[in-house]
Amino acid sequence: MENQVLDVIMNRATVRAYLDKDVPDEIIWKLARAAQQAPFTGQMYAFIYTRDRDKKEVLSKYLGRFIAGAPVFVLFCLDFRKLEKFIAYKNRKNSASDVQMLFLGIQDVSYAAMNFVLAAESLGLGTCFFGGAPMIEPLLTDMFKLPERVYPLVGMALGYPAKKPLPRPRIPTSCVLFRDEYHDLTEEEVKKALEVMDAGLIREGYYQNLNAKIPKPEGGEDDVGYDKYGWGEHISRKYARQDPSSKLRDLLRGKGIMI
Ligand SMILES: Cc1cc2nc3c(=O)[nH]c(=O)nc-3n(C[C@H](O)[C@H](O)[C@H](O)COP(=O)(O)O)c2cc1C
Repeated sequence: MENQVLDVIMNRATVRAYLDKDVPDEIIWKLARAAQQAPFTGQMYAFIYTRDRDKKEVLSKYLGRFIAGAPVFVLFCLDFRKLEKFIAYKNRKNSASDVQMLFLGIQDVSYAAMNFVLAAESLGLGTCFFGGAPMIEPLLTDMFKLPERVYPLVGMALGYPAKKPLPRPRIPTSCVLFRDEYHDLTEEEVKKALEVMDAGLIREGYYQNLNAKIPKPEGGEDDVGYDKYGWGEHISRKYARQDPSSKLRDLLRGKGIMI
């Protein structure tokens, strides 16, 4: 039997090219309302959208070049401030640690953002997340007037797809779903999983089209062409690079989030 929810989930793919066609406010409000219907711990989120060309132009430079070509940009923020207003209204004070607040708040924002994505897909729209938002907090704070204890988590381009990509591969479900107890992947399973990912992405020309090759962190000549540059190569280069977490900690502290 056909299941429209599963169809939307299984056919979704990140869209990075958009038609020159606006997304009306009514639709954006509908998507935001669907986002809110996600499970939450404290509704610790704020979604800020813009169509402003100048803003999108700047965001294109710092977050992802596809933003300029999208009719709408949405910023998903962690919002401790709002929850704390509700608590203060009841004459109480938030005494949870900010580490705990982050664990819960990031989940609130993430599930809401994913609802937003799926609702958008179901209406024929396409989306692309931009994970660099936390690292450019000062720019986003200035651009969107983010107060203390409101922190940008992820950006999103939203628009009608110029072309709908096919769904992209995933590692086998046997690598993520375990019955009764955790299963530590064997080297053979790791190899097979990477082969599945690489085959699908290299066939699409995914990293080549995005011009997204990351330089070898260990330096030296790069002998891996785009015909061999798959997910394994990409994530291993990406995560082997310098850890920016201390910069992030400083930025969080600057917004009154103390970890
Ligand atoms: C937190 C997060 C951050 C992301 N950041 C970016 C980004 O900065 N630029 C981009 O082009 N895609 C970004 N993506 C999209 C992923 O690259 C994409 O979801 C992944 O490659 C799987 O492809 P699919 O969504 O088409 O299945 C991000 C996704 C997530 C969840």
